[in-house]
Amino acid sequence: MIASSILVTGGAGYIGSHTVIELLNQDYSVVVIDNLTNSSYEAIRRIEKITNKKVIFYDVDILDKKAMLEVFKRHPIWAVIHFAGLKAVGESTKIPLDYYHNNITGTILLLQAMKESNVKNIVFSSSATVYGDPKTIPIPETSPTGATNPYGRTKHFIENIIRDLCTAEGDWNAALLRYFNPAGAHPSGILGENPLGVPNNLMPFLSQVAIGKRDKLAIFGNDYPTKDGTCIRDYIHVVDLAKGHLAALRKLKEDIGCVEYNLGTGKGSTVLEMVAAFSKAVGRDLPYVILGRRAGDVTNLTANPAKAEKELNWKAEISLDDTCASLWNWQSKNPNGLEDCPGSAPAEC
Ligand code: NAD
Ligand code: WQD
Repeated sequence: MIASSILVTGGAGYIGSHTVIELLNQDYSVVVIDNLTNSSYEAIRRIEKITNKKVIFYDVDILDKKAMLEVFKRHPIWAVIHFAGLKAVGESTKIPLDYYHNNITGTILLLQAMKESNVKNIVFSSSATVYGDPKTIPIPETSPTGATNPYGRTKHFIENIIRDLCTAEGDWNAALLRYFNPAGAHPSGILGENPLGVPNNLMPFLSQVAIGKRDKLAIFGNDYPTKDGTCIRDYIHVVDLAKGHLAALRKLKEDIGCVEYNLGTGKGSTVLEMVAAFSKAVGRDLPYVILGRRAGDVTNLTANPAKAEKELNWKAEISLDDTCASLWNWQSKNPNGLEDCPGSAPAEC
C-alpha cells in the first residue's frame, strides 16, 4: 500500500475545515480526526456539500494514542497536518494546565503515534504569537521567538519539540507554519468560523455586532504608536491560509528537515481600518467604543511573507475587501453559525 493519504487533526475546526476542502479539491485522500471540543460535526457535512465528496472522519482525541494508532493502521497516511489544539489566549491564562496537557501532551502522543506508524512528515499550526513583541516589522522568520502567555508558550514549545525531533532523527520533515490573523470564510457562504460563546477575536466579534448579537465592538486601546493609535495586525483570508498548507505539503517532499514559514499577507491593518473595511462590506457603520488596552496585546504583528513566497511558491491573494465580504456573506446567511441549518431537518443538514 503506497502511503498517500493526509491525516488532518482538528479538521472540523475553522482553519482545518477550509484546508480539508482545498485538499479534497486537489484530489488528496484525506482522513480527519477531531474530538469536536471547539467545533461541530456539521462542519464535516458542509465540507461534503461543498466538495461533493465523502469525508473520512473519526471522533478521536489526540490524547488517545491507541485510537490514533488504529487510524494510522487503517489508512495509508503519508503526512499529518496538525491543527488540533486549544487556542484562546485569555482562557489559557486561567487553565494553563489544560492548555499544556491538550496541546503539548497531545502533540507528543501524536508524534509518538506517527513514529510508531512510520509516518514522518508533519505540517504544524504555529502562530505569529511566537514572535512576542517583535522589533522588526515586517517580521522575518529569523526574529527572536518566545511567548507571553500559556497558549503562545504551547506553540513555542511544540515548535522546539518538533525541531528537536528532526535534529535527532534525520528522516523527519516538518513545516512550522506561523499564521498571522486568519479571517474571512468560504466563498460558498456555508462554512466559516463558528465561535462558541463570546468571540475573543476582532473579526468574529465585529461580525456578531453586524448581525445584532452584540451591541458594539470594544476597541482595546487607541494609544499605540500607529497612525490611528490602534494595533496593527496582518489579516489573511482563511482560504489563502488553507492553500499555504498544500504548498507546505509539496515542500515536505523535498526532504527539508524542519523549516518555519510565515503565512501572512505582508500588509498590516489597524483595528479602525478593519472596522471601516468590514462596515463597507456590511453597507453601514458599525458601533464601537474605545476602551483601555487589553493585557498582552502588542503594537504590530505584520508578516514578512517573502520566504513562503520564494520557497513554497505560495502567496496570499485575496484582498481585504473580499475577506470582509466573505465573512459577511457567511455571517449574514448563518447568523447562528453551524448550529443553523436553514430549510432542512437537523438530520439532513
Ligand atoms: P479551532 O478551534 O476552530 O480548531 C481546532 C480544532 O481542534 C477544533 O475542531 C477542536 O475541536 C480540535 N481539538 C482541540 N483539541 C483536540 C484534541 N485534544 N483532540 C482532537 N481534536 C482537538 O481553531 P482554528 O482557528 O481552526 O485553529 C487551528 C490551529 O491553528 C490551532 O492549533 C490554533 O492554535 C492555530 N492557530 C490559530 C489561529 C487563529 O487565529 N485562528 C492563529 C494561529 C494559529
Ligand atoms: C486583533 C486586534 C485587539 C477584539 C490572537 C492570538 C494569536 C492568534 C490570533 C491563535 C488586537 C483588537 C480584538 C476585540 C479589539 N490566535 N480587538 N476588540 O490578539 O492579534 O491574535 O488571535 O493562534 O495567537 O493572540 O487577534 O483578533 O484577538 O485581536 O479591539 O473585541 O483587535 O486588541 O489589536 P490577536 P485578535
